[in-house]
Amino acid sequence: MNVEVSEFLETGEIMIIPLFQGTEKAPNNSTKGLSRSASIAVKSAISSEKFEGKEKDRISIWSEECQIILLGVGEKNKLTSKKSRDFGAKCFSNLPENQGRNIVIRFTVGWNNENIASFAEGMILRDYSFEKYQKKDDGGKKDSEWSIVCQATKRYTEELELEIKKVSSIATGVHLARDLGNEPANRLYPEEFGRRALEWAKGKENVEVEVWNFARLKEEGMNGLIEVGKGSIHKPCMVFFRLNPNVDINKQVPCIVGKGITFDSGGISIKGSAGMDEMKLDMHGSATVFGLFQALHATGYEGRVNGITCMAENMPSAEAYRPGDVIDTYSGKTIEVLNTDAEGRNVLADGLWKASELNPSYIIDLATLTGSIVVALGHEATGLFSNNDSLSKRIKKAGDDVDEICWPMPLLPAFEKQMTSSKIADVRNQGKGRWGGAIQAAGFLKQFVQERENKDGEKTQIPWAHLDIAGTAGIWGG
Ligand code: BES
Ligand code: MN
Ligand code: ZN
Repeated sequence: MNVEVSEFLETGEIMIIPLFQGTEKAPNNSTKGLSRSASIAVKSAISSEKFEGKEKDRISIWSEECQIILLGVGEKNKLTSKKSRDFGAKCFSNLPENQGRNIVIRFTVGWNNENIASFAEGMILRDYSFEKYQKKDDGGKKDSEWSIVCQATKRYTEELELEIKKVSSIATGVHLARDLGNEPANRLYPEEFGRRALEWAKGKENVEVEVWNFARLKEEGMNGLIEVGKGSIHKPCMVFFRLNPNVDINKQVPCIVGKGITFDSGGISIKGSAGMDEMKLDMHGSATVFGLFQALHATGYEGRVNGITCMAENMPSAEAYRPGDVIDTYSGKTIEVLNTDAEGRNVLADGLWKASELNPSYIIDLATLTGSIVVALGHEATGLFSNNDSLSKRIKKAGDDVDEICWPMPLLPAFEKQMTSSKIADVRNQGKGRWGGAIQAAGFLKQFVQERENKDGEKTQIPWAHLDIAGTAGIWGG
């Protein structure tokens, strides 16, 4: 989709005019450039009692030059950017397939730039499909790109252009994350993820990608990742993303860590077959990190940021790790494996410790970590665990702003204690029962976030937040 901004000039093949409730006569500019007859049709439709501008009100007007759609968006003072985004998405999904790809949207009286940009964002985000493994039989129609022109009053357009550029840039990251997430596990395995990251970095001056392969992981002692991934013919790797690696050198910067299990069969503690195909989603944390770096790069973000993804395929085989095994992790702490299906935390143990070594301002990890968070929050919200209230609040606010809810969850000490009471190792990878499974997992991860001295010489843990996205990552077929 190509999105442009202009004043009220051309009319397009399809013209959409989003109107507020109570609009009794055609706003200035709404009919500019239309033929007399089309103009009259639009004006009389707007003044008629059939169109009130309520949400879901919709009238199509046919004219020689273009098809005109009046779109009701409800009360003006109730319009939020979240609602605008939803309107944009719905508007796009309702567009006729066969009436042309040149869309003009006229934002007349009552629209501000923020809401216009959100409307465009909704359209851009909704313009997504994953069809690379399907034969096409629509004569290539679907392939041609949509051209969207957002029209607004001249004095708005310059700033609007910047805002729309920003949302489209961010959307390239969202779409990349979706593409990676949709890839099946036979196509996208750990090393292939690494290869794509390296390829992505090529030719980009201010990004660096480094991949630690199986041999390197062994040298480094990253046995959390190795043990989980060694049962597969596709060996594990760790991928480092660095944006603007040469700036803010003496400043602490964020590090974002992603769980990247390209397929989670459960390993020797194998899962049931029903729905097992969905477990290709178990790398959505890593896909989000990759997409984030694309979005940051595309928007021209100037600060330094680090990312780490822990890539492995969790498979049963003669070489797989087993229940009862004890792992020497990168941190030096040992893990008693009680369940090979609790593998995400094992790989993140190494990723979080590595992240801590970078002395970051904060660490955020994203992981499709537990079925338990889906029981708690369904598909409505991400579970947000943190050792730092201010970081937690900022994440919650950022999520609210884009309508991606992060719901604060407690790091209850009792569950943490379960995880540190192994009879044979420092920590165990499964708690003492089913209850509070997502909190158990978070309590486990917390053991692998380093402490450091603050300026008063006290040891405190690095600010860290864990996002359990098992419920909010893509729902395959849903
Ligand atoms: N990848 C799964 C969690 C998951 C479940 C993600 C459903 C998306 C949808 C994770 O590795 C897992 O298997 N967790 C176990 C942990 C248990 C064995 C302690 C779980 O939640 O059941
Ligand atoms: Mn698992
Ligand atoms: Zn998993």
